[in-house]
Amino acid sequence: MNEHPKNSLEMADGFHLNLNSLADKAACMEHFTDPEIARNLLALPFPYTEADADWWLNHCEQSLNSQLATFGIRDPSGFLIGGIGIVGAWSAGDHRAEFGYWLAKSYRGRGLMPQAISVFTAHAFEQLRVHRLYATPFSSNLASHRALEKAGFQREGLLRHHHLKQGSYLDAIIYGRISGAGENL
Ligand SMILES: CC(C)(COP(=O)(O)OP(=O)(O)OC[C@H]1O[C@@H](n2cnc3c(N)ncnc32)[C@H](O)[C@@H]1OP(=O)(O)O)[C@@H](O)C(=O)NCCC(=O)NCCS
Repeated sequence: MNEHPKNSLEMADGFHLNLNSLADKAACMEHFTDPEIARNLLALPFPYTEADADWWLNHCEQSLNSQLATFGIRDPSGFLIGGIGIVGAWSAGDHRAEFGYWLAKSYRGRGLMPQAISVFTAHAFEQLRVHRLYATPFSSNLASHRALEKAGFQREGLLRHHHLKQGSYLDAIIYGRISGAGENL
């Protein structure tokens, strides 16, 4: 297997999570032409511009908090194929955190995101010392619900009009996991 730099979190078959960097700009510009990603995330700009990529990747490189809490999902060659990380106002020491994720179209449907979620969950519990990790996918995003269930998250309820996206209120389903509650990672 390739040697991956510090802060790499290993998945199976050479896939891994690693920090985002300015070198990921071409991959971002390629993947974020897919409207399905923007449709299912709360705040990803669409159409996605080079300025959007520059802002995000600079933010990742400069913020220690985001370096610890936001990762790119990479194929065995290191090419960025997705992302996963804490969203919203989280600071080190907070007991709970919400996370979000996306995967490039050509890599979907082969169980990569449940695996990435499991690896990220272990990191959040063990390294970030988060006690409760949760996600609030749109109620319409059945593939995302399933990915969370496959990673051991429990469906906790319906949040009516939880998200406001482009002037529309959207229902969410909340999924959570508790650290050290006898659940297997
Ligand atoms: C949602 C997403 C993360 C799933 O990742 P993935 O690696 O493809 O997940 P999986 O390979 O486990 O496949 C998804 C599961 O959902 C199921 N699924 C897919 N589409 C579905 C649908 N329309 N209805 C019901 N189940 C569906 C699949 O059958 C599979 O379950 P199975 O293994 O039990 O058959 C990925 O599709 C994605 O990034 N989509 C675009 C962005 C996004 O939605 N991000 C999440 C925001 S909360």
